[in-house]
Amino acid sequence: RRMGVVAAAFWAHRDLGSHVEGMAISSTKPKIWPDDIVERLGAVGEVLFNALHRRRADLKLQHAYDEIRNLKDHLEAENITLREEIKVSFKDDELIGKSHMFQTALHQVEQVASTDSTVLILGETGTGKGLIARRIHRLSLRRDRPLVTVNCAALPATLIESELFGHEKGAFTGAIERKIGRFELADGGTIFLDEVGDLPLELQAKLLRVLQDHEFERLGSSTTRTVDTRVISATNRDLDMLIEKRAFRADLYYRLGVFPIRIPSLCERRDDIPLLVWFFITHLQTRLGKAFKTVPPRVMDALVSYDWPGNIRELRNIVERAMILSPGSKLELDEAFPGRHRTI
Ligand SMILES: Nc1ncnc2c1ncn2[C@@H]1O[C@H](COP(=O)(O)OP(=O)(O)OP(=O)(O)O)[C@@H](O)[C@H]1O
Ligand SMILES: [Mg+2]
Repeated sequence: RRMGVVAAAFWAHRDLGSHVEGMAISSTKPKIWPDDIVERLGAVGEVLFNALHRRRADLKLQHAYDEIRNLKDHLEAENITLREEIKVSFKDDELIGKSHMFQTALHQVEQVASTDSTVLILGETGTGKGLIARRIHRLSLRRDRPLVTVNCAALPATLIESELFGHEKGAFTGAIERKIGRFELADGGTIFLDEVGDLPLELQAKLLRVLQDHEFERLGSSTTRTVDTRVISATNRDLDMLIEKRAFRADLYYRLGVFPIRIPSLCERRDDIPLLVWFFITHLQTRLGKAFKTVPPRVMDALVSYDWPGNIRELRNIVERAMILSPGSKLELDEAFPGRHRTI
């Protein structure tokens, strides 16, 4: 007014996201704005506000679509894992063994399961590391959320990276669809990194970052995501030796190995062998359509004194083979059994 303004029109408008907008006219004296102008401005205002309103609704819809697409991806991926899980859970996961060494390992499993600690399972091939990982998840507070497994040895580095962290469409040749990584799938649950000793060096740094900060990016994306995933890993490799050879990062080892559990090899717990032999016989006989009544002492002795480089997996295979080849209800070992010469 001091500057001689007698009439003004205001147009306030802020970013689409925030809801500040408005149109106003004002004057120092009444009736400065002619009625038809006021009316026309009103009409213009209405058109503008309607347009803004529509634009905002479009954006909201777009956002909702994105969210639905995200959830759909997630559900699909989760569905696949659940299907895998169901297949697994129908498989027997009993852990057999009364020996002191094995019981000590089982006791450690029970102690650590309900904490959220990172667990490293160490043991030779076929000692049951996979079963132990599942047992830890089942006994944990995360048991109703998924247990997602990644085999770190089976795939080349880029593929493992996309398995672990996911990728955006077009992130690399062959990435025709967006894919959710296993860390995201295991959010709220557990991820089991099997054969972690074989994880390529370039991925070890990325894994370390998830362990430390719970952060990662999908391949081909710059959006940082966070997850709440418990990590259980396993290896049959000698990690100390790998560290010495600079094939495994020491800092990652310390992170993974907060709570190491060593599963004894079968020859360290030979007293469990008869129990395991009968466990496998009982389990396999229905499927094989054959009943076994006895395992002759010389056969059991041969099984107990053999060194079992392939541990329980090898024992199971040998028992299955012997069951198939034995003519009667007595378990016999065939020529092919490598430990046969010792006592038979
Ligand atoms: N304590 C156990 N009682 C009964 N069965 C067992 C036990 N431990 C292992 N098994 C059986 O032995 C086989 C090998 O177990 P698993 O695959 O868990 O071994 P692993 O240590 O993960 O081997 P690898 O290092 O080769 O991956 C499986 O068929 C499993 O069911
Ligand atoms: Mg395994």
